[in-house]
Amino acid sequence: MMKLLTFIAGVSVVAALDNGLARTPPMGWLSWERFRCNLDCKNDPDNCISENLYMRMADIIAAEGYKDAGYQYVCVDDCWLAKSRDSNGRLQPDPDRFPHGMKALADYVHSKGLKFGIYEDVGSETCARYPGSRGHYQTDALTFAEWGIDLLKFDGCNIKPEDFAEGYSEMGFYLNKTGRPILYSCEWAIGDIMHGRKANYTAVMEICNTCRNAIDLNDQWESIVRIFNVYAKDVGNFSKIAGPGGWNDPDELVIGDFSLSPDQERTQMALWSMWAAPLLMSVDLRNIRPESKNLLLNKGLIAVNQDPLGVPGSVRMTIDQFSIWTRPVIPKGSVATVFFNQQTGGTPRNISVPMYLLVDGTASHYLITDTFTGSKLARLAYLQSLTVRVNPTGVAMVKMTPA
Ligand code: GLA
Repeated sequence: MMKLLTFIAGVSVVAALDNGLARTPPMGWLSWERFRCNLDCKNDPDNCISENLYMRMADIIAAEGYKDAGYQYVCVDDCWLAKSRDSNGRLQPDPDRFPHGMKALADYVHSKGLKFGIYEDVGSETCARYPGSRGHYQTDALTFAEWGIDLLKFDGCNIKPEDFAEGYSEMGFYLNKTGRPILYSCEWAIGDIMHGRKANYTAVMEICNTCRNAIDLNDQWESIVRIFNVYAKDVGNFSKIAGPGGWNDPDELVIGDFSLSPDQERTQMALWSMWAAPLLMSVDLRNIRPESKNLLLNKGLIAVNQDPLGVPGSVRMTIDQFSIWTRPVIPKGSVATVFFNQQTGGTPRNISVPMYLLVDGTASHYLITDTFTGSKLARLAYLQSLTVRVNPTGVAMVKMTPA
């Protein structure tokens, strides 16, 4: 996707920006949902926001199969900063919790063959009230490049919403100008939405590699449902604007945390894969349950998420409290389908849908494989029906390939 930049310091310029990043949705680990703003390194040294936490996660991502599965970015969120800039006006990390500095932490993450993400805010302060980038975009972009940052999550607190466009564009311009490829992850659209304004998805996707467009996700089923409803409604047709280089971001994965049932974890992974969403785990990888780990590493689901066509899925139909999503994937004419049983109670239910309602092509037969297990389920003619059985709040997910 061609990236255009149209703003810098009040002067209108048009510069072609294509940072070459996020050709498929970024995958990695982000601290926020699980570790929040835990500053208590005295009593809780293993879980506070400190260099130690990111180093341990990088170790595990590299050593325990996550990196091989595609997870690449180890990302810091809010609360890493010192309360003030240094004497040169540059950002500095909290000296007690990041005693070796961010460059050393980036070097460590890179030494594991991974990439390093950091967090800042387009406004005067971050959401947790640490120094923001407003008024310092150029300095901060240069600082991040010098440190070896590979991804910037740029939050949208403490700024007037009418200044979003200017702030996000300017930072994008300066990041690009550093010459270092830095994936640019923006909370511009959700910022507009939270201020009661219409999100300008086209403008966001011209500048940013990912676009947060729903309220913060919590480790709760209700929170997943809330975000599901945003994606099902697709207000502003944001699904049509995403593609290689720019992806919609429904926030982190909470698979392996505390609240979701095994079925609900499968549902989050399936929907995020269908939506071509960033896969950012926010979980303590030191003690994750094996089933949750296996789900995060599931090859079939990751292949759908990372499908090279880069076309996000959309709702095909809703029948009898089943939400049925389809997404075109390779090889040509194939379709990934998710059947989401929205009933919160009861017992597993069957759903049958004729093949011709699920596919766009007109092949005479399709091979049906279970995306979770990779096993072949059936060979169905165009006029035959596919039947799946789905647990409450769970999903079935299949791939249909012309036979
Ligand atoms: C906002 C963002 C979250 C997180 C917090 C940190 O709420 O949406 O993802 O970064 O700020 O304070």
